[in-house]
Amino acid sequence: MKLTIVGTGYVGLVSGVCFAELGNNVVCVDKDEQKVEQLKQGMSPIYEDGLEPLLQKNIHNESIHFTSDLANSAMDSDIIMIAVGTPQRDDGSADLSFVRAVAEELAEALPADRQTVIVNKSTVPIGSAEEVESIIRKKNANADIAVCSVPEFLREGSAVKDTFNPDRIVIGTDIDWASERLVRLHASLADREQIITTSARSAEMIKYASNAFLATKISFINEIANICDAYGADIDEVARGVGADRRISPHFLSAGLGFGGSCFPKDVQALISLAKDKAYEANMLNSTIAINAKQRLKPVDILQQRFPQGLQNFKIAVLGLAFKPGTDDMRYAPSIDIIHELVKAGADVHAHDPIVLDAAAPLLPRAVTLHNEAEDALSGAEATLLVTEWDMYKQYSIADMSVSMAGKIIIDGRNTLDANAFKAHGFDYYGIGRR
Ligand code: UDX
Repeated sequence: MKLTIVGTGYVGLVSGVCFAELGNNVVCVDKDEQKVEQLKQGMSPIYEDGLEPLLQKNIHNESIHFTSDLANSAMDSDIIMIAVGTPQRDDGSADLSFVRAVAEELAEALPADRQTVIVNKSTVPIGSAEEVESIIRKKNANADIAVCSVPEFLREGSAVKDTFNPDRIVIGTDIDWASERLVRLHASLADREQIITTSARSAEMIKYASNAFLATKISFINEIANICDAYGADIDEVARGVGADRRISPHFLSAGLGFGGSCFPKDVQALISLAKDKAYEANMLNSTIAINAKQRLKPVDILQQRFPQGLQNFKIAVLGLAFKPGTDDMRYAPSIDIIHELVKAGADVHAHDPIVLDAAAPLLPRAVTLHNEAEDALSGAEATLLVTEWDMYKQYSIADMSVSMAGKIIIDGRNTLDANAFKAHGFDYYGIGRR
């Protein structure tokens, strides 16, 4: 099939490369000509495991192309996927202006003598498929189109793997020919029973509800961890016991500094805002956000309680800046808030991340020192905070740490370090809800 994918961000680029790998003829469109040139050379603008080799292979096979010319590519496409950004507006709602602009452009380009499926892949408010259709119909009443919602569930860091191994594919449309075409496109990715067909509105809601549920699960386990802390129970043991119930499942029960990234914070806010538009106050989702905002500052609370005289000139090492391991994404990363708070308290902050340093700098206070080597961040530190659980930090020698640090305090914001091993080296170890 001939596919046009508009937008070469995480969702657009990964989908484009994966559908090309599955034997489709893919054209990825982006307004950013510099990015298009870079992609044509086989260079991925994002760090994602396995993406670049697959990109290069499919460029070589001529199954994927890059262009800034949407109109030309749209003319003879079987499916056009809109995968542009839907950033968060100040009031929490999703900004649809990029999606609308694509719809306007498509309206002029779509031929009348060809059936085209248009897919919203971006996470968009409920009713957006209908809005895209009406924008197109206003300018091009005879366009033979079906606007559908096929939400994307990939995770950053395992985006390629997730795309090839989905739990389910959701196809939102009431139009049979479009549904059949989309089922065919996804047939090699999932068994038929994993393909769920719904109305476009339900598909749009499934995406928000899935992210809201997972985010709430994280805030829930963090709340339980905080109560564990107060009563001397251990969150790892508790999560194991709770997660063994198949109705609950062990996934997304890792307590820590809460969720960051481009999806959970933005999508939960957008759902709250959609509910508010219909005069419904989404109290549980409000709590999900409130717990998460507080949770990320736990390491700062721990230090302030331990040193009530203040953190002035206190040297602190921060390990990990990206919002989670395996990605260079800094969007809504807990490290940003933590470092701002520490610097505000007068601490001398030294941070390290194995992937993201230059991109992090503009988001952090100028007073922070960024290091290419973790050793340099640790050297002379009174306390170390693990913020992102990169593997390299788990493998780091505690004996070396003990020698290079000035103090012996470790705050494990992701509950991934060996607490007993640190204690055996004389460290005061603080986890999140760990006994
Ligand atoms: C998420 C969804 O998983 C994905 O389906 C959707 O398409 C986009 O949003 P992503 O943001 O890439 O994906 O990361 P994910 O691995 O889901 O983690 C999200 C955040 O939750 C991270 O900050 C992570 O550290 C945190 N998290 C996750 C926890 O704190 N505890 C957990 O148990 C799991």
